Amino acid sequence: MPVRARYAYLTPLEDKTREQLAQGISVIAIDGPVAAGKTVVGRKLAQNLGFAYLDTGVMYRAVTWLALQCGTSVEDGSALGKLARSNPVAIEGSEGSRVLVAGHSLGPELRESSVDTNVSAVAKASPVRKELVAQQRQIAAQGKIVMIGRDIGTVVLPDADLKIYLTASPAKRAQRRWQEMRDRGQEVELETVLSETLARDEIDSNREDSPLRPAPDAWELNTDGLSIEQVVQKIIDRSNSL
Ligand code: DC
Repeated sequence: MPVRARYAYLTPLEDKTREQLAQGISVIAIDGPVAAGKTVVGRKLAQNLGFAYLDTGVMYRAVTWLALQCGTSVEDGSALGKLARSNPVAIEGSEGSRVLVAGHSLGPELRESSVDTNVSAVAKASPVRKELVAQQRQIAAQGKIVMIGRDIGTVVLPDADLKIYLTASPAKRAQRRWQEMRDRGQEVELETVLSETLARDEIDSNREDSPLRPAPDAWELNTDGLSIEQVVQKIIDRSNSL
């Protein structure tokens, strides 16, 4: 089975939107902080273009979940790297949000608060990043993909045809994250979500390996007050203006 099929999924083609996209755009990188709208925008953009979609965050979450299950310390970078190397992550299902790792099919488990709390520590570990970045590049090599994360434009795919850096105010991002958690039945205070969101931003932005930051040639787009459709349209317009 081709590697791509194990990791990413192809979405239906909408010829009209695809024709609107500038010729030659094949690899799209979307980065940004927690809850800036990357997932929903990236998925919708991929659907419109008939591109594959890969949320690289679920790969770091899968390794975190596995480490917690196995009792591997999230501070032990070398053990985490071995775990990631011996358990490649595969994306399952049409939404790209279920993950297969070490024979476990994971969905809501990837969003458990234990994973939320520990994933930034795991994502800091260079041996884990090295392994997952290699997997991500292999997937992107076939083109026609929207890949989202924190380091896609800076590290994973520095030659991407289009790089987007999505932002939103911390209050808006915490509100989105809080709503997502409530929708999943998790009872949590908005204030707690805001402080956890800021704490994760802090770790992601200040780690040594591949910190969260816009690539010098990324287009920064603040999504406050914009609908998903408006953000997707702005990205398509941007690609046409290149
Ligand atoms: O996008 P998310 O919240 O699912 O990401 C989970 C964690 O993984 C978060 O701490 C950032 C990290 N991550 C990363 O370091 N690099 C990526 N390409 C994707 C996610």
